[in-house]
This record gives sequence, structure tokens and C-alpha cells, in this order.
Amino acid sequence: MSNAALDVVEFLLTTSVYSDDRTLDENDLPPSFRRVFWTGGVDESGDGEESGDDDTGGAGASGSANAGRRHAGIRRPLSTTNSTAREATGVDRPWDAVSELMFTERDEFSGSISLTQQEMAESWFAERVDTERLRENPTLAKHFEDHEAFDGEVSHEAAREQNRPIQADRVWIDSLLEEYFDDEDDEDMLDLVDVRAPEEVDVTLDDLVLTGDQEAEIDKISKAIEHRDYLAEIGLREIGKLLFVGPPGTGKTSTAQALARDMDLPFVEVKLSMITSQYLGETAKNVDKTFEVAKRLSPCILFIDEFDFVAKTRRSDEHAALKRAVNTLLKSIDNISLIEDDVLLIGATNHPDQLDDAAWRRFDEIINFPKPDYGMRADILQVITRTMDIEEFDPQLIAESTQGLTGSDLRMVLREAVLEALTEDRTTLTQEDLLNAVEEFEERDNLKNMDMIEGDHDALVAGGDIGKASDGGHDHDHDHDHDDHDDHDHDH
Ligand SMILES: Nc1ncnc2c1ncn2[C@@H]1O[C@H](COP(=O)(O)OP(=O)(O)OP(=O)(O)O)[C@@H](O)[C@H]1O
Ligand SMILES: [Mg+2]
Repeated sequence: MSNAALDVVEFLLTTSVYSDDRTLDENDLPPSFRRVFWTGGVDESGDGEESGDDDTGGAGASGSANAGRRHAGIRRPLSTTNSTAREATGVDRPWDAVSELMFTERDEFSGSISLTQQEMAESWFAERVDTERLRENPTLAKHFEDHEAFDGEVSHEAAREQNRPIQADRVWIDSLLEEYFDDEDDEDMLDLVDVRAPEEVDVTLDDLVLTGDQEAEIDKISKAIEHRDYLAEIGLREIGKLLFVGPPGTGKTSTAQALARDMDLPFVEVKLSMITSQYLGETAKNVDKTFEVAKRLSPCILFIDEFDFVAKTRRSDEHAALKRAVNTLLKSIDNISLIEDDVLLIGATNHPDQLDDAAWRRFDEIINFPKPDYGMRADILQVITRTMDIEEFDPQLIAESTQGLTGSDLRMVLREAVLEALTEDRTTLTQEDLLNAVEEFEERDNLKNMDMIEGDHDALVAGGDIGKASDGGHDHDHDHDHDDHDDHDHDH
């Protein structure tokens, strides 16, 4: 019997069991199934009890935009047709795959596919399915837990635990965002917040070379997340707010994203500098909303980049609305908790020296992201060249000649080498190519650093007076220049 038939029967059984058993919820459906049945968005069917189309004018401004709205969800019964079955299982012709079986039928008129003899279908399925697979389908795990036709070991609870939570699905995230940010002003809000489903994050912890300290902290926080209930029980709440500090390109953002990916948590990113450019009057409200969204998406990671912006704003005599927004932000941070709200907060900054006490105080762990030392550079080079073809590759040697470069710099070097080689129609690199690229990088380095530290795009846009830029670089706290000491800091 083909796998396609098994896939489709699994789908038919799951939908049938789910439709009947009202104690099951969306977290009992495998992600690929529930995606098909998710009806997102608030206005979807337009048949809401509460009035017509233009009722929202007041609601948005009053701050209770969500009162009385219906949430998106999955409605019973789940209807199964060739197209829903195809979408859920990936089987090209679902009906053809099961039409031979004794217990299936297709309604020519509606196009629906169904089971005529559920019991027979169950026995057929129980005989063929492997246990691993049932463990990934909580609905069926529950159904077959004590089923006489099935003699493997499955448990509903374990399957549910292993199943990715609905909060991590893109469809869920989209419907939530639509619900919260649906009027015109709110569109701009989405410039400030970026929400990514874990499946959309493409960096994993395996791709990153971390210091021993960083690894230990990540271990600690993973454990804390795993044992939230216990921590709540013993009243330990001051946990789950991390601050990543370090120069640009040292992996702060990547590490936060990789955590989201590896722990299957949605990743909510806030770019603080965007606050300035947005509708100032709305800013405090939007900050509030961001935290609300994070709580609704929980468990999730809320990543607040450019955290030094907070301190800078409090010091300077900025627009009052902006100060208000920043104060709202600090208050919101106080009011959110890993233990109570299932939100892991990660702040990041390149300028820890600029943070004031009020900002520092909010974080219970500070994690240092130093520039990589010799050993780390060699490891990073190994990682980022994993899929490349390089002759006589000697990462140690390149690590030696790239003192002061960050992970991000090393990536640039590699990119340069690849592009250079392509101009000669080569896709196999040589050690020589890499060394040339390092040299090239050094030449551009001052200009690049100036841009990153000062955010001074004009220097680049205006055509780049390189002489001026590199002079400027010395005046500022130029990370790259006095970096030679850096390597003594870590003992790799
Ligand atoms: N330790 C590392 N191991 C592997 N790759 C790294 C490391 N550090 C940086 N990189 C790579 O460099 C790039 C930039 O890193 P990332 O954006 O995480 O830096 P950042 O610290 O957030 O910088 P910024 O302060 O400018 O936001 C990423 O592609 C990342 O994979
Ligand atoms: Mg970053």
C-alpha cells in the first residue's frame, strides 16, 4: 500500500475524530493540517453580531480596539475535499490514492471525501501506521491511546507536548496581527514590529559560534523556559530578561533568532529607532500594543534592538511624546514576565556605556558578545564555509590575519571572495582568494566602521570621501582599531 494512501487516511481519520471530539483543540492538530482549516482575520465571514462595516472608527482611538471581536480559529466540522486533503498531505491526487479502499467515498456533487466505515478505516490504519508518526499527531494519539486495534505505545499528552504550538504558526501570527493592527495608522506600526514564525527563521544555534559564557547562559535560559511552572511555584520571577551587549556584527540578533527557531517560539522584533519616525502621538499606544501582541503570541521571544535608544531619549530633550513612549516601554518591560506571561525578553545594544541605571536595572542577565578571538574566528570560518568548495583551505591561517574582525565581517570577506572568483567563472575558491579578500576588506574597513558606529550614511551616499571617513574613524570610539587586545580576553 502506498504512502499516499496512508497519508490521506490519516488526514481523513484526524479530521473526523477532531470534528467529533470537542475536547480537542487546535494544538491537537499537526501544523500541516490545522493550517488548512485556520480561518484567520476578524472580518472573515462578516456575520459578526456586532454591527456593520464602519463601526471601528471609535474603537481604535479608545484603546479598546479588540473589545467584542471574534478571534480567528478552526471551526467544526472540518470539511475534507480533494483540495484540502492535497494541501494538508502534499499528496497530488488524494482521492485517487484512497479510492480503491473499501471504506472511502467521494461525493461527486460537493467533492467531499469521507470515510464510510470509520471502524474499518481505523483498523486498516492502525495496522500500517508506524508509532513514531502517531506520536506526531495528538488527535490520533489520543484516539489510539487505548484502541484495541493498535498495539504500539502512544500517549496523547506526550504527543501534544511535542506538537508545535499554534502560536508558532504563520497563519496564527497573521490573524493576530490583523486583529491588532487593522486600521490605517496601524499599518505603520508594522514598521516598528516584525513578527516571524520560527519556521521562517533560517539561522540555528548550530550555525553560530558562541563563547563558553554565552552557551552557559543559553543553557540556563532554556532550562528556565522548560521549567516555568516550577519557577512560578517557588515564586522565582526575576528571570527571563536578557541584555545582549557587544559591537555590531557579533551575533546578537542571530543568537536571539536562533533561540526562537530552536525553541519553536515566535520571534517578535522591535526596532526602537523606528519609533522616532512614526506618528509620535500614537507611539506610546503602539508600544503598549506591541507588548500586548507579545503576550498574545506567548510563549514567544520579544527582541528589542538598539536598546541604548531608551537611555538616549531620556537624557536628551526630545519630543514629549517620545519620552512618554519610552516610559511606557520601561513600564511595559516591568510588567511582562517569562514566568507569568511566557515572554522571554531580549534587549540588544552596541553601546552599553550609554545605558542609564533605569535601563540596566530591568535586565537580570547581561550577556557579552565580544569580538571573536582567534579560535572563534577559525570556527566561524569553518561554519560559514560549510557548503563551499575551497582548495587548500586553512581557516587557522585566515583567523590569524583577521584579528579584530567580527562574524559579520568574516561573512563579508567570504562573500567578496566568492564574487571575485565568479568574475573568473570559478565556483571553487582557493586559500589565495580568501587572503586577497581579507586584504580588500581591510582597505574598506575604516569606511565601513564609520558607517556602522555613527550611522553616518552621508559619508557613503555622498560618494565616500574615504580619507575623511577614516580620519573620522579615529576620533570616535573605533572598535576595530584598538582591537588587538581583544584576543587576550578569552581563552579559546
Ligand atoms: N559568533 C558568530 N558565529 C557565526 N556567525 C556569526 C557570529 N557572529 C556574527 N555572525 C554572522 O554575522 C552576521 C551578522 O550578525 P548579527 O546580525 O547577529 O550581529 P549583531 O550583533 O546583531 O549586529 P548589530 O549590532 O549590528 O545588530 C550574521 O549573518 C551572523 O550569522
Ligand atoms: Mg543586530
